[in-house]
Amino acid sequence: MRWRAVLALTVIALAAAPATAEIKSGSEFLSPEMRRQQADETRNPAWFWVEQGEELFSRKPQTGAACISCHAEPKQSLRGAATHYPQVDAASGKLLNLEGRIEQCRIERQKQPGFGYETPEMLAMTAYVASLSRGLPVEVKTDGAAKPYYEAGKAFFERRQGQLNLSCQQCHDGMVGQKLRGDTISYGAGTGYPAYRLEWNDVGSLHRRLRACSLGVRATQFDYGSPEYLALELFLAGRAKGLPVETPGIRR
Ligand code: HEC
Ligand code: HEC
Repeated sequence: MRWRAVLALTVIALAAAPATAEIKSGSEFLSPEMRRQQADETRNPAWFWVEQGEELFSRKPQTGAACISCHAEPKQSLRGAATHYPQVDAASGKLLNLEGRIEQCRIERQKQPGFGYETPEMLAMTAYVASLSRGLPVEVKTDGAAKPYYEAGKAFFERRQGQLNLSCQQCHDGMVGQKLRGDTISYGAGTGYPAYRLEWNDVGSLHRRLRACSLGVRATQFDYGSPEYLALELFLAGRAKGLPVETPGIRR
């Protein structure tokens, strides 16, 4: 209940949430030392997952093809791929994030049992594929077929929820730069994920981070890969358009 104490005064002071200003990456709100650690491959533990993913990408299953046999030269062929996710899958009309696309290839094209969300294999593979887009700007589509998903994500972001009756927006627009339990509140961009969090002592997906925020306000935690968090992920990516992909990030 410490959040409640910290928030009580601040929330009263909040009028209508301000119009979205220029969004900055989560790493801008880290200490200079942690920013240096994120940038240094030898000191950022998340690179271990990236290396595991790279290894898995080339590994041939007993039956079926290795990822790399269809995606030769991944450093070129998959460079930029992560910047377009989440996106609407043309065949099914469903919103897929990068994890969803990888799982689809794993099951339908590699003909293997799915990795499953948040497994070490999926985290490693997602971290690896996303790392191939490091430095490239987020470029998700938010119009056309993506529009209803984007609107649903926006509504979620703005809706007050949980026992603390707080919206994402109240913290991630209204209290940006303020301290909460030792963290500095950022805009809630997802550009560093999967990321290594010291609190987890592990790499986790963006949806794991979203679950932590839902729990923080005592609201419903949706499942990994749920439609609710996928729509939210698209909205966050839409807000983060133009920001560089930083995966693998490191966070407190
Ligand atoms: C009580 C304030 C609060 C609320 C409400 C809240 N968060 Fe957070 N959130 C935080 C704090 C504190 C952090 C860790 C510091 C940071 O990066 O902002 C965080 C981190 C995040 C991050 C990770 C950013 C990064 O770069 O690592 C995302 C994404 C995020 N929140 C999204 C959301 C979404 C979406 C919602 C609504 C479901 C939400 N948050 C609700 C306080 C909040
Ligand atoms: C049998 C061939 C085949 C195999 C094996 C395969 N893929 Fe794919 N993959 C494809 C095709 C075809 C596409 C769709 C290409 C397109 O239109 O963008 C695709 C798309 C993708 C994309 C999205 C690219 C983008 O630009 O949106 C990713 C990421 C991906 N695959 C990762 C993987 C991973 C990881 C594995 C191994 C678990 C894998 N693929 C295995 C054929 C394959």
